[in-house]
Amino acid sequence: MTLYPRDNNDRDRVREAADIVRVVGEAVALKPKGREFVGLCPFHDDHKPSMNVVPSKQIFHCFVCGAGGDVFTFVEKFYKMDFREALEFLAEKFSIELAPRRAAGATGSSGPVIDAGPTRADLIRACQTASDFYRAILRHPDHGAVARAIIDRRGISPGMQDAFQVGAAPNRWDGLLMTLRGKNLPENAFLEAGLLRRRDDSGGGGHYDYFRNRLIFPIHDLSGRAIAFGARKIDEADEPKYLNSPDTRLFRKSSTLYGLFQASRSIQRDRTALITEGYTDTIACHQAGFTSAVATLGTALTRDHAALLRRICDTVILLFDGDEAGQRAADRAAEVFFAEPIDVRIVTLNSHTDAKDPDELLKREGGTDVFRKAIDAATDLLDFRFARLRERLKGAGLSALSRGIEEEVEKLVALGLADVPPLRKRLITKRLAQLAGVDEATILRTIPAGRGPASPRPSQADPRPDIKPLADSSLTAAEHLLGCILCEGALWFSLDEARRDFLGPAAYRSPLFAAVAQAVDAVARSGSQPGLDAVLSRLRDTDAHNEVIQAAVGLQQHIETITGQSSRLQDHWRSCLAAADRDAAARAGGQPVSNPTQSALARIESARRKQTEFGGDLRVFPDAARGRDR
Ligand code: UTP
Ligand code: MN
Repeated sequence: MTLYPRDNNDRDRVREAADIVRVVGEAVALKPKGREFVGLCPFHDDHKPSMNVVPSKQIFHCFVCGAGGDVFTFVEKFYKMDFREALEFLAEKFSIELAPRRAAGATGSSGPVIDAGPTRADLIRACQTASDFYRAILRHPDHGAVARAIIDRRGISPGMQDAFQVGAAPNRWDGLLMTLRGKNLPENAFLEAGLLRRRDDSGGGGHYDYFRNRLIFPIHDLSGRAIAFGARKIDEADEPKYLNSPDTRLFRKSSTLYGLFQASRSIQRDRTALITEGYTDTIACHQAGFTSAVATLGTALTRDHAALLRRICDTVILLFDGDEAGQRAADRAAEVFFAEPIDVRIVTLNSHTDAKDPDELLKREGGTDVFRKAIDAATDLLDFRFARLRERLKGAGLSALSRGIEEEVEKLVALGLADVPPLRKRLITKRLAQLAGVDEATILRTIPAGRGPASPRPSQADPRPDIKPLADSSLTAAEHLLGCILCEGALWFSLDEARRDFLGPAAYRSPLFAAVAQAVDAVARSGSQPGLDAVLSRLRDTDAHNEVIQAAVGLQQHIETITGQSSRLQDHWRSCLAAADRDAAARAGGQPVSNPTQSALARIESARRKQTEFGGDLRVFPDAARGRDR
């Protein structure tokens, strides 16, 4: 059997190749700030940039909620992946070939399989295989004939069929199944990707195709890979009309937009996205030249969608069908987007046409012009919301009116009114005042200054993590020293053995800091400086939990924040060392152990000498001469 390199080899290569600024930057708009970058933290409901990304250390850290770590931590937390998935995700992004996990023979035919279920890459391969298969079926002279006739009748151009990779599932239970068996592909990956289902009768099992006799609309991720499928019935007697892939490790319906891959260039160019309600609406829009169109996947717009959109554009135009369901969907969308720093405009088609959706309208003679006019006449989200409110309060008596306005204010506060930028907030209060026939001051008095505890804004994407940022007062002298070492690994070598002991894992109340201290010790013993970089690598190699990595990053960032430049770090180090010595002396029964300060200074001097011999940078050492004055 061939021996493959151990996993940590992959880990190192991926870590070296991955650029945290690029990875975080794809999820969050980052602005440069000195040698660092800042952006809105995606791990709590952030309204001003609280997250730092530090390229020199390849870490991120939020100083409000405390989330932090290396590039792996970010990917795991943001995309909700486990470590292996994050490794594969980053390896693919930065073109690193991972060592194979299976001890299969070189031919790949037989051999023992030692993995535990399909990997993310297996799922992606399964979706790609299925997508190719459905495309081939659509082109097949016999099996694709009915589907082709429908597509032609609906007028989806060959160009659009190509761009959206439209396909067809054959009218049988085992079309895809036979194909993957013929190719000797693992069925469990297709099962987990939602492409096959288990026969639930006899224990014997066996699988069958999930999508049968349907038009297939692959759903792509931002890099154009199929991750899920929408499937429309071909036989009108079938139910449901559309069948979608279930949520999988690759795909979350509530945060995915159909067509985003195809639309993303136009969206970024125009800084505007057009949101429709259906697969065929999106394709019809693109075909008519509205190439910024995307669609939700049979669900309402969520805060995840809003967060995704606000990261890539400034304006969102929401298109809703003219029916009552469309009106309600528009109401909900108005709430989802209310406090987002993004322009939202709403188009309800029924005031412009009797066509039930964009697809139908755009197929009509002159439909494109009507559609463009409807978009140009889009209503601002606030106008839309207040028009609906005015409608509701029409003819209400004085007390009903004031109750209605009060309720509206409460609702808006719950939606994040307190966090809306001042100018926009003024506009809102002005409108409410006009509606209620009172002055603005009256309205303003009903708005609490901050978001009250009774109305926390829910964040579907990311529940607030438990970890809180470090409070300085809660840290012991030993913990401060540990943090100083993470800032400047050379400090470790200025310690004598006794102090290295009392900075050992036993010195910390939190097992997280103890684990960090252990890594510091291990790195130092291997002869390297135990700065944050080296300690994070070490922690990764020992499969430490992300909480430990987060604790190391949080501690280092905290010390860096309170010390600022390196001269202050040295002062801080010295005073914490003195405090730690006093603590140790107190523990030892009031007997100071052999003038520790003196011996520390001697150690520093000797370390300085050593460092000079190796041509190192002296500035990293505490200045022993200055220390003597104290
Ligand atoms: P529609 O019923 O309006 O479908 O549903 P459509 O896009 O106009 O389709 P055609 O033109 O009749 O073929 C709008 C969207 O809602 C989702 C789909 O995403 C669809 O595109 N939907 C609808 C489902 O997910 N399941 C259903 O059963 C129906
Ligand atoms: Mn339609």
